Amino acid sequence: MDRGTIGLLPRAPCLEDESHLGYYESLRNFAIRELFPAAATKIEAAVAEAGLPDGGRTAPLPKLLEVTSPLPVVGAWKRLMRSQQLRTWQKVRTTLLADEAQHERALQDAEREVPGRLHYDPSFETPEYACLDIHLQPGGYVGDRTVAGHVFHYGTQVFYQGDNDQDELHEDVASRVAEPADGRVQKILDVGCSIGQATTALKTRFPQAQVWGLDVALPLLRYAHLRAVNLGIDVHFKQGLAEDTGFEDGEFDSVLAYILFHEVPEHLFAQIVAEAFRVLRPGGTFTIVDAPNGRAFPAPNRVWLDFDANHNCEPYSPAFVATDLTALLESQGFRITHSGPTPTFLWCTQCEKPVAA
Ligand SMILES: C[S@@+](CC[C@H](N)C(=O)[O-])C[C@H]1O[C@@H](n2cnc3c(N)ncnc32)[C@H](O)[C@@H]1O
Repeated sequence: MDRGTIGLLPRAPCLEDESHLGYYESLRNFAIRELFPAAATKIEAAVAEAGLPDGGRTAPLPKLLEVTSPLPVVGAWKRLMRSQQLRTWQKVRTTLLADEAQHERALQDAEREVPGRLHYDPSFETPEYACLDIHLQPGGYVGDRTVAGHVFHYGTQVFYQGDNDQDELHEDVASRVAEPADGRVQKILDVGCSIGQATTALKTRFPQAQVWGLDVALPLLRYAHLRAVNLGIDVHFKQGLAEDTGFEDGEFDSVLAYILFHEVPEHLFAQIVAEAFRVLRPGGTFTIVDAPNGRAFPAPNRVWLDFDANHNCEPYSPAFVATDLTALLESQGFRITHSGPTPTFLWCTQCEKPVAA
């Protein structure tokens, strides 16, 4: 049932789901803010006792896991994280699928009411690497043609633990997009846009610009379009690949990639950077907000990363975290203009395509 919205946040389809989402959110909150710090203390002590050098930063991963996995608090933390994640998806997806026909109608109505904003080619073939159940979402981003976007929105509401109910984090990300030095921002690309929350935030920040969100997952884009129509925000969405967008050379003044890189296989990192470089005009900017990368991390962070990779279906993230993104950007011709942490645990890198390029 459509129960309206609370500001930008759609209410869960029924009161029972709303209650369960609140419950899963508090479980996640407890797992991250209370249980993990306790686990980290035990991990650090176990690493010291085992004599692993550098606080466990450089020990081989199997050795680190051998030392830390038997700790009960670590096992409890992992199980709680995984169970909470699985149950979140399952709960909302079951209710949404029960009303699939109604949701399908709403998606189709939005495409009819505001045509020419959702761009896709029915013959597009989704690459296999993008078909995983990322974060354990059943069918991943591409499995449920009708409800994957709705499921993603409710699920990420829990993921963000209430901090993004009004797209606050997406607004923050949009505010980090570097303006070209000449101030000209006529066309922006949000690559790996999912359900378009940063895309709409970018349009709000740059109302004069034409803003495009691109993603491999059509189900997410269909929901993104519906959401943008409901918000009355005029943006474009296109199904496509970050590594081969199909846009013209130099079409964009700015490109954003928010938490895209850690979700693509390693062989695509350089291709995606090269593609951003190609579609930017000289002087255009590329902003990447993603996991910190390119350095050795303390043992608790490594345990979390391993959990995500192997128990939360984030198989590509270890390779991204090990990559020196700054060096990669420079090797493809970008000039780094900023590199620093965000208020969340992420890292923001801004760079520009030199005017002479
Ligand atoms: C963690 S989500 C990004 C979140 C999003 N930027 C936001 O604002 O919430 C990663 C997204 O990248 C998309 N993706 C993965 N591989 C891609 C590729 N090669 N090209 C385009 N999109 C891709 C996924 O479908 C997914 O929507």
